[in-house]
Amino acid sequence: MTPIRIIVCGFGNVGRAFVRLIEDKQGDLKSRYGIAPQIHAVVDIGGAAIADTHGLPLGQLRELMDSGQSIERMASFGRAGMSGAAILQSIPADVLVEATPTNLVDGEPARTHINAALNKGMDVITANKGPVVLFYKDLQERMQSSGGRLFMSAATAAALPTLDVGKLCAAGARIQAVEGILNGTTNYILTRMGREGCDYATALQAAQDLGIAETDPTLDVEGFDTRNKIILIANQLFDQCLGITDVETVGITGVRREDIEKAQTDGRVIKLIGSVRRENNRLCIKVAPEALEADHPLAGVHLSEKGISFDTDSMGRITVTGGHSSPTGAAAALLKDLIHARCFQTQRQP
Ligand code: HSE
Repeated sequence: MTPIRIIVCGFGNVGRAFVRLIEDKQGDLKSRYGIAPQIHAVVDIGGAAIADTHGLPLGQLRELMDSGQSIERMASFGRAGMSGAAILQSIPADVLVEATPTNLVDGEPARTHINAALNKGMDVITANKGPVVLFYKDLQERMQSSGGRLFMSAATAAALPTLDVGKLCAAGARIQAVEGILNGTTNYILTRMGREGCDYATALQAAQDLGIAETDPTLDVEGFDTRNKIILIANQLFDQCLGITDVETVGITGVRREDIEKAQTDGRVIKLIGSVRRENNRLCIKVAPEALEADHPLAGVHLSEKGISFDTDSMGRITVTGGHSSPTGAAAALLKDLIHARCFQTQRQP
């Protein structure tokens, strides 16, 4: 049995859901994959908990989470004020799970965490989009020189498989275009406006009440979350190094009920689409509301569901829809990357 020593940075909804999944699925992970993940350190804003050689006791971690206490209060293991950077310097580990909140200004603190882990040759599995959107080239170079690897399913629509389909399932095919409904909040709002004639503000409030929307819903409704995801998808699948300023981005705040009704009258449905396509030897990438024909493969993706469609030369069109838009869905994407990293992709990533 291979123990995997994990450091978790960020103990909000996603970090906690990840730790819960590791505990819930311990038996499965051993019997189906022959791996024994151990949580060696958990870091959050107020400090950390650090294990001895066998990992933090998962039952005690669960009790701490259930009681709503912060991680540095964990009996015997808690260290108030200890930072992720300090832990990554001092604790030997195999994998960093980065689940701190996304920061699109300077990528911190995730950038420091990811750089430190890659420099040590560790595998990094991130739900945080900040550093990968802002510093993609730098991270690629760091991986080249250190041998560390970076996995980002949880940052690219999480439980909806996007990169895995494009990289693994479509291996050998040339992807001509990718279109995606990559944000649950905007799809939820557009669906409610179209189905019930609900106004924008009421639909947004409902998305917030459901916990789908970001704390700052501007990221969702202005299309920035979709933009970040399509950048990462384009960079990985089209071998690009695109950044935020390369993507023309229009969100859904300008979509009126009349626009939705007009589209419906024409047999169409308005969706916020992130897309990247090859056109005459150049790559076109954008985020915008589009009126899809009823037979478009993403036209039937409703409410908080997401979807992605790949147009390929030799496999035709491949479309995937679904996956939970929730902390558990994001944590499941982290776990999937962990299993892929340790069991199926033991060599360096392309
Ligand atoms: N708030 C996002 C969504 C999830 O609505 O899909 C985070 O990427």
